[in-house]
Amino acid sequence: MRLRRAARRFMTVLSLSWSLPGTAGAQGGTIDQRIDDLLSRMTLDEKVGQLVQYSGFTEDRAAAIREGRIGSLLNVVGAEHANRVQRIAVEESRLGIPLLFGLDVIHGYRTIFPIPLATASSWDPALVTSIEAIAAREARASGVHWTFAPMIDVARDPRWGRITEGAGEDPYLGAAMAAARVRGFQGDNVAAPDRILACLKHYVAYGAAVAGRDYNSVDLSERALREIYLPPYKAGVDAGAATLMSAFNLLNGVPATANTFTINRILRGEWGFDGFIVSDWNSIGELISHGYAADAREAARLAMEATIDMDMMGDVYAGQLADLVRANVVPEAAVDSSVRRVLRAKFSLGLFDNPYADPSTETAVILRDDHVAAARDAARKSMVLLKNEGGLLPLSRAVRSIALIGPLANDRDDLLGSWHAMGRAEDVVTVLAGVRGRAGGTTTVTHAPGATVTEMEREGFAQAVAIARNADVAIVVVGEREFETGEAASRASLDLPGVQQQLIEAVHATGTPVVAVLMSGRPFAIPWLAEHVPAILQAWHPGSQGGNAVADVLWGDFNPSGKLAVSFPRSVGQVPIYYNRDVTGRPPTAEKFTSKYLDLPNTPLFPFGHGLSYTTFEYGDLVLSGDTIAADGTISVSATVTNTGDVAGAEVVQLYIRDLVASVVRPVKELKGFTRVSLEPGERQTVQFTLGPRELGLYNQGMEWAVEPGVFRVWVGWSSEEGLEGSFIVRGP
Ligand code: NOJ
Repeated sequence: MRLRRAARRFMTVLSLSWSLPGTAGAQGGTIDQRIDDLLSRMTLDEKVGQLVQYSGFTEDRAAAIREGRIGSLLNVVGAEHANRVQRIAVEESRLGIPLLFGLDVIHGYRTIFPIPLATASSWDPALVTSIEAIAAREARASGVHWTFAPMIDVARDPRWGRITEGAGEDPYLGAAMAAARVRGFQGDNVAAPDRILACLKHYVAYGAAVAGRDYNSVDLSERALREIYLPPYKAGVDAGAATLMSAFNLLNGVPATANTFTINRILRGEWGFDGFIVSDWNSIGELISHGYAADAREAARLAMEATIDMDMMGDVYAGQLADLVRANVVPEAAVDSSVRRVLRAKFSLGLFDNPYADPSTETAVILRDDHVAAARDAARKSMVLLKNEGGLLPLSRAVRSIALIGPLANDRDDLLGSWHAMGRAEDVVTVLAGVRGRAGGTTTVTHAPGATVTEMEREGFAQAVAIARNADVAIVVVGEREFETGEAASRASLDLPGVQQQLIEAVHATGTPVVAVLMSGRPFAIPWLAEHVPAILQAWHPGSQGGNAVADVLWGDFNPSGKLAVSFPRSVGQVPIYYNRDVTGRPPTAEKFTSKYLDLPNTPLFPFGHGLSYTTFEYGDLVLSGDTIAADGTISVSATVTNTGDVAGAEVVQLYIRDLVASVVRPVKELKGFTRVSLEPGERQTVQFTLGPRELGLYNQGMEWAVEPGVFRVWVGWSSEEGLEGSFIVRGP
C-alpha cells in the first residue's frame, strides 16, 4: 500500500516535470489556444473529470482530484481551506488544472442581505447590482469562484417555498433583476479578485410546479414559457451570465435536465448561449426516477445530448461517460465541447494564473463596514408598507412606551432567511436590539414573545397582552422560520403559522394601536390583519441588519419605498394569483355565470406593485408623443409625479400596457417599464418611458414576435391596479 502510494507520488513528480500546471495552460496565446493545447493532452478520463462535481472535500476526494477525476467542488469555503484543496489539483494532478469552487451565494456570503424576493421589491436594479458585488467580493476572497445564483424562476404560487429566492411573479421585473444580479456578481471581468461567475437557475419553469409542491412536474404552453418564464433567462444570458443550471422539474413530459427543446433549441440555438450548464443536484440521476431513462448509462447519454456540461453530485458522468465514448454512443467531440466550456470558465476567472485565494483579503473584506451598511440600506429599501391607517407610522414623538411582541421580535437565525451561505446568527441585529437602540433613553421598550412561530401553545399570550396594555403602541413581529422557506418548504396553507394571528388578535383587543411586522419568504394570506391592524410592514427575511432596518422604517428615519413583486392573496384558494392574467370571455360581474368565486372576490388582498410611503404622490399630465405609431415605431409616454406630502420620499413609477384585440388573447395588463424617482416635499418630476416593438410585441400563433395593429391602452401608476390611463393606435401595414 505504502509502496503504491510512493509510486504514485513518483509518477506525479515525473508527470509534473513534463506538464507543469500552467505550462500548457499559461504559455501565452489566446484562451482558445490554451484550451486546445490542454485538450490535446488530456486523457478521456481527465476530460470526463472536468465534468464532474461533488459536494465537500474528503480524503477520498483528494485521491480523485490528484487523478484529475474532479473538475469542481461545491461547499468548499474559506481561503485557507480552499487553497489547501486547490493545491492538490494544481500541484499534484498530472495537468494541474485548477478546481472550480461553487457555492449558493443567494443573498450575501457572510454579510447577509434580504432574501431576493425582498430586494426585488426595491424595484432598484442598481441597488441589487451593488449588493451582489459585495456578495461576490466576500465570496471570492473566501475562495469561492462561482455562485449558484441568481435564481430567476418566475413564481406565481406562494405555496412554493422557493418563491423566496426569486424576483416574484413578473417577467419584466424578473428580467431587470436577473440582469442586475449577473452584472453585480460578474462585473466587467470575472478575473478580478472580487468577482465570481453567475449561474442562472433553474432552467426552466421550476417555479410553475403543479400545486406549488417543490420538485413537482410542470405543464405549460409554449406561449406561457416564452412570455412568462423565459424572459429573465434571456435577460441573464444577454447580461453575459457565464453558466446556467438545469432544473429538477419535468416540463411538458420531458425533464428539464434532458430537454433538448428548451436547452438545445432555445438556449443554445435561438439565444446562442455558449456558457456551461451544470445539472442541479443529481438531476441527471433523477432522469431515472422520472422514468425517462432506464439506467445511469441512458441518463448520461440523454443529459449529454442536451449539452449538460457538468454533473452535480450525480456520479452519473463519472461512472458512465468514458464508457459511452468508448462504445461510440456519445461522440468524444461532445465531451470535448463540454470540457472546453468548463475550461473557458476557469480561464475567464484567471485560475490558471492565479488559482489561490488570499487569506488576508478574506479577513479584510468579510463584514467590512460598508458591506454591513449596505445590508441595512438594502433591507429598508426592500420593505413594503402594506397598510398605514391614520398615519400610525412613522411612530410619533409622543410614543413613550413600546410593547415589542412576537416570536420573531428577538430572533437572530430566522432573519437571515433561507440559503444564507456563511451568514451567522451572531452577526444579526434583532428587531429588539434595533428598536431598543433607536428608542434611546426616552422611550421604554418591553418585550414578550407571546408565542412561538409554529406551536399552538398560548401560554405566553397573557404576558404579551399585559405589556401591550401598558404601552402607547404594540409592535408585533410575526411570520415564518427561515427553514420554512426555500427548497423543499412548500405550504398548503398561507395562514400565519401557529397561533400568531390569535396573538395579534389578543394584543389588538387591548385597544393599544398595533403595528404588524411580517417576516417571511413568501406572501401570507392575512385578511384579518388587513382589516383590523392599522399598520402592516412586510419586512421579509431582512438579513443581518434586519433589526436596524426595521427601526429605521418604524421611526421614519427611512421612508419606505418598496413595492410588491408578488400579489398577496386573500386566501390560499385564489392561488395561483397574478396581476397579468389573461382576459376571460366572462369577466366577473354581479351576474352568476361569470368567472369568479362564490366566497371571495377575484382580486388580491394587496396587488403586485403596491406599496405605501410616509408621503403622498400625485400623478398628472399623462402625455403620449402621438396618437398612432407604425408597427416598427416607438412612442413615448410621460407623466409628472409630485411629492404632495411633508417628507422626502421615493416612488416607483410603473408603466403597464394592454393590447386590446390581438391574434392571441393578451393579459389584462403587462408591466413594460418602471423607474424610481426621489422627491423632496413639493418637488415634481416628469418621468418618460419609451415603448417600441420589444414592449408592444407578442408571440403570434406561429410563435413569431410581432407587433399587431390596433388599440393599446397604457397606464402610468403606482401599482398594477391604479394609475393614469391613456391609449394609442398601432397602424396596420
Ligand atoms: C439544489 C438546489 O435546487 C440548487 O438551487 C442548489 O444550487 C444546489 N442544490 C446546490 O446547493
